[in-house]
Amino acid sequence: MAFSAASRSDEQIFSGRESSSSESEYDYDFFWRKDTPLTKILDIDTNTKDSHVARDERLLRLTGSHPFNCEPPLSLNYQQGFITPSHLHFVRNHGAVPVVDESEIMNWTFTVEGMVDNPLTLTLKDMIRDFPQYTTPITLCCAGNRRKEQNMVLKGKGFNWGASGVSTSLWTGCFLWDIISKANPSKKARYVWMEGGDDPAKGPYGTCVPLHMVRDTERMIMVAYKQNGEFLSPDHGKPLRCVLPGIIGGRSVKWLKRLVVSDVPSNNWYHYYDNKVLPTMVTNKMAAEEDHWWKDERYTIYDLNLQTITVYPENDERLIINETNESELYEIKGFGYNGGGKRIGRIEVSLDRGKTWTLCDIDYPEDRYREAGYVDLFGGTVNVCDRMSCLCWCFWSTKVEKKLFKSSKDIVVRGMDISMSAQPRNMYWNVTSMLNNWWYRVAIQPGDTADEVKFEHPCIANKAGGWMDRVKAQGGDILDRTWGEDDEDDSGPKVKKEVVDEDLEMMINPEKRDVIITAEELAKHANKEDPWFVVKGHVFTGTPFLDEHPGGVQAITNVAGEDATDDFIAIHSEGSKLLMKKFHIGRLETTAVSAPTDAVTEITPTLLNPKVWKKITLVKKEIISHDSRIFHFALESPEQTTGLPVGKHLFIRSKGPDGKLVMRAYTPKSNHKQKGILEILIKVYFPRGDIPGGKMTMILENMEMGTQIEAKGPTGEFEYLENGNFLYNEKPGRADSFLLLAGGSGITPCYQVIAEIVSQEKDNTKMKMFYANRALGDILCYEDLEGFKKFTNANLEIDYCLSETPEGWKGLTGYLNKELWDQYIEEQKKNGEFMVLVCGPPGMVGAIEKLVKESDLDPSRVVYF
Ligand code: MTE
Repeated sequence: MAFSAASRSDEQIFSGRESSSSESEYDYDFFWRKDTPLTKILDIDTNTKDSHVARDERLLRLTGSHPFNCEPPLSLNYQQGFITPSHLHFVRNHGAVPVVDESEIMNWTFTVEGMVDNPLTLTLKDMIRDFPQYTTPITLCCAGNRRKEQNMVLKGKGFNWGASGVSTSLWTGCFLWDIISKANPSKKARYVWMEGGDDPAKGPYGTCVPLHMVRDTERMIMVAYKQNGEFLSPDHGKPLRCVLPGIIGGRSVKWLKRLVVSDVPSNNWYHYYDNKVLPTMVTNKMAAEEDHWWKDERYTIYDLNLQTITVYPENDERLIINETNESELYEIKGFGYNGGGKRIGRIEVSLDRGKTWTLCDIDYPEDRYREAGYVDLFGGTVNVCDRMSCLCWCFWSTKVEKKLFKSSKDIVVRGMDISMSAQPRNMYWNVTSMLNNWWYRVAIQPGDTADEVKFEHPCIANKAGGWMDRVKAQGGDILDRTWGEDDEDDSGPKVKKEVVDEDLEMMINPEKRDVIITAEELAKHANKEDPWFVVKGHVFTGTPFLDEHPGGVQAITNVAGEDATDDFIAIHSEGSKLLMKKFHIGRLETTAVSAPTDAVTEITPTLLNPKVWKKITLVKKEIISHDSRIFHFALESPEQTTGLPVGKHLFIRSKGPDGKLVMRAYTPKSNHKQKGILEILIKVYFPRGDIPGGKMTMILENMEMGTQIEAKGPTGEFEYLENGNFLYNEKPGRADSFLLLAGGSGITPCYQVIAEIVSQEKDNTKMKMFYANRALGDILCYEDLEGFKKFTNANLEIDYCLSETPEGWKGLTGYLNKELWDQYIEEQKKNGEFMVLVCGPPGMVGAIEKLVKESDLDPSRVVYF
């Protein structure tokens, strides 16, 4: 029995929220507990292509600001109960979220093509009107869930997920099979390809699903347009997506545009190079070099695998256990899910590392939907009663006496499904680190007092902590029989394995691992032309990437012949580390190479030295807006100047609260001629909810007056000289005019250049600046900038631009678009030779890079600070 669209008015069918007549007949609360969405456009998104998407700030971002990939905090996810509110549902986006106008939702079209007799082009309105509609609870889960645990053993492809990349919603739409069968597929057809309307790096996201799965009503594979009774939100596929229950989330294609029936699997890039579990012996290197692994359909994953995760005790939860309460019961609880619709038959917990097990209670809320029979909900029929399959998560719990925690080292949990397949004890490491489902282990550690215990989860999605971090720091082998704890009564030989240094493993070429480089050889390359440098005892050549290095040539030449380990590790991403393999030459004969020295050197007239970290002291913090500060640092002596050429940056480094070194490049606000002082203007990235703050900006924000930080430099590719003359990548050049494009706190390099030009009386180089900010209060250094215009030789115009304009605003509004860009470039061409200087947030810089690419401008005339 399906909900019949014909029985409803258009208004009822197409309104976002269904006012079901059955609300009064049924216990509506049981099916759906309405909540208030806590979404808004967040600051972090405003400068990205997702600036139109409202989000819940409690979600933990796993890949920075963009693209948006997030999971809810584990306990918060669990506390929501069976149905996850849409705004707390995990999100996995490979690129920007398509913009779909509200008024166009019903006209959204998609096609059914390929091996069909009757190709179709349907609108969403057709889909709702012409096919039976259903509403059903479905758990979606990313194949990368729990990937961080594998990355901690050895970094593979893919970013860190904690254990909460899984959520359950009530999805409304029709069977995918109903649509495909209407197109009349060929008997030879074996797969349905699905393609989205987004446009990530490798083209529209697409993949496929075997046709037999689509046909199987027990699997309930759907095309859905509502989630929890509302039209889909942008992040979850507005206005239409596929939902494939029991199958890894990667196949539930969002923003659905094309369905192609075929006898072979999808040829989409994402189908080949994503969502596979390659055999465990395939290394990162093999996967990068040997394409056949990715083209082998045997390693493509469809069904999810069996998973159980402990939520309580939480990470860092503490319990005082003494004679008064040791016989009290503690409820250990969590959730589980499985693939292919298979029910989890049992879930067991062990407090003695798997010697004995306790059977847990399991609650399958999905069964209550099954027992309810047919119910109309949100414009579709709840039809769980039509199937035996389990397409949702379940909740498990067991109670144990608290005193057991005093003698136990850990709580492990495992599930077993009705085919007696059980979760493995050992991790199956694989290059994509997908479907990680080894026993979920919560370690039990002594607390701060003799009667306290504390619990540790394996790791935390987006920050340090958990037992894996601790064990690694102690030099233990996470994969050994005691999870690296080395504390055991466990008899039998213990072979302590060498601790894998993930960073190093990513960077070195195994064939060069044992090639010995002598200290003399290294010394010969302590030059700018052919620089070699050392990271973690291994030697790399910087020569092949001098021109392309995003951090500029100097960042490499500064460390020629030296140990650059600390600086390198502090600033480079995993991706950059992987690239280093190509430049690995061998292992350094001894570790005797000198690290940048901290020895007290004699005070020189200028502070900066490219090879020595110098200490500067915080003497003043000027608060200039809610999040912008000028930090004043005293140099080594009141007579000293920085020695920083105009337009260049310096490095600042310090240890963060986790003990790890953080290093960032800044262009100061103070002038290179100023004595005894260095002023750094920054925007502080404060933590919001569970989103951590900016590492360096929070170190600076929390610095006590009188404490020291280290500075080194100069670095950077551009240096302004005088009268329009400059050096760019050490080559001389000249410009009659500069177009300065700045955003937010990226004003500082432009500020330096302007200040220098106006202060040189004979220099009347033309300057046009575009300065973008969000709101009026974000504009930095307004008085100074306006003051620069008053210098007699000043040839300066400034366009201020805001994305949120106050009443009466006379400046520009919005962002730097193509029209404005063309206008600026035309203007510049009239001035003669010109240079474009750019410094702003990544979204702005990306947009400018695109404009440059699409224009006929010589890219070597553009400097990105
Ligand atoms: N569909 C499109 N068009 N683009 C995407 O980036 N990501 C996939 C899938 N569908 C993706 C997509 C992945 S990897 C997952 S896990 C799910 O969407 C996540 O769905 P959600 O963001 O609604 O939770």
